[in-house]
Amino acid sequence: MIHKPSQPALTPVPASAESLLNLRIKHTRIKQVINELNTLIYPGSQDSILLVIGPTGAGKTTLARYMVEQAVDGATPEMNTDAGLIPAVYVEAPSSGEDDFSWRLFYTQALAELGEDLSAPKVAYGIDPTTGKMVRPRGISPGGLAGLRTAVERCLKERDTRFVVIDEAAHIIRQTRRSRLEIQLDTLKSLANKGCSQIVMVGSYDLYQLVSLSGQLARRIHVVHCERYRQDRPEDVLAFTACVQKFQSVLPHLWGDQLVQYAQALHENTLGCVGTLSSVLTRAARFAEADGRWTVAALERALLTDAQRTRILEEILEGEAAINPSLTRNLPPIKTAKPHRNREAA
Ligand SMILES: Nc1ncnc2c1ncn2[C@@H]1O[C@H](COP(=O)(O)OP(=O)(O)OP(=O)(O)O)[C@@H](O)[C@H]1O
Ligand SMILES: [Mg+2]
Repeated sequence: MIHKPSQPALTPVPASAESLLNLRIKHTRIKQVINELNTLIYPGSQDSILLVIGPTGAGKTTLARYMVEQAVDGATPEMNTDAGLIPAVYVEAPSSGEDDFSWRLFYTQALAELGEDLSAPKVAYGIDPTTGKMVRPRGISPGGLAGLRTAVERCLKERDTRFVVIDEAAHIIRQTRRSRLEIQLDTLKSLANKGCSQIVMVGSYDLYQLVSLSGQLARRIHVVHCERYRQDRPEDVLAFTACVQKFQSVLPHLWGDQLVQYAQALHENTLGCVGTLSSVLTRAARFAEADGRWTVAALERALLTDAQRTRILEEILEGEAAINPSLTRNLPPIKTAKPHRNREAA
């Protein structure tokens, strides 16, 4: 009888610093933003453009990707019966290095996400209503901008895409002269209308300028603030500390339970932004791994420098000052009709 050599017992490999990068904490602020977006994204919504605005490192990109994944997961039963269905897509607004925003690059990326064959020419074809023949509208060249745009509209419709996330949407603003901004946004608005999809624009506070461009646009835009956790709000302090605890629990062999005592210092240094917290802690964990053990010095080396922190804080304060008054929504006091005085009784 042949005995199989017994398998050596496998010792679990402890998680490394990189595992922090894969962590997705469903923290309070993210849950609030997701709930708001889920409420406002629905077929037939009049909010054709949703702006998700917040400070750098708040976790906006992570949130945007999660929204798309969630939409795809939620539509799995329908996708099994309709293979063409793509309920949501994520596109990063390209920074082309050109003076003007490159719609060509943007449409091309959107088409790739929509599973379109990019080698086929994109021409805005139509049907001549009198002859019933297929025609190519004059002035539109194969692969031209109008052709690409029509292809995106058609794909959004055919794929029954409920929403398109445009991350780094501030690139559209930064590469556009102020006088042309309204036209750019009109382009997106009509893309949403024709493709029957909602557009979720994600970016930093400068995106907020879009709201003040015109009344017509303002009516169709809803702003969702992906805010930092503030140190002057007790509930925010608790939620941020819970995030630090979560990061701590991923690498117990590295920092044991030593991390959470620095929650307040981390809150101060990262300005209450969970993405920035993730970057700082990943760096700290890598320094500790390189040193062969966890020390507070590793954490100190990983923190944002004063100069970095000051710059980010300036941007946040400026952004919050711009956005906060305009997020104020007031219901005018209801005027109750004065009771008629009964003349006879008077
Ligand atoms: N909820 C979360 N849980 C764990 N890690 C997170 C979470 N959100 C973000 N991170 C981490 O923080 C990093 C930065 O986050 P993200 O890129 O989403 O921030 P952002 O707000 O888009 O920043 P920017 O404005 O600079 O683009 C990501 O690499 C991600 O790994
Ligand atoms: Mg981002």
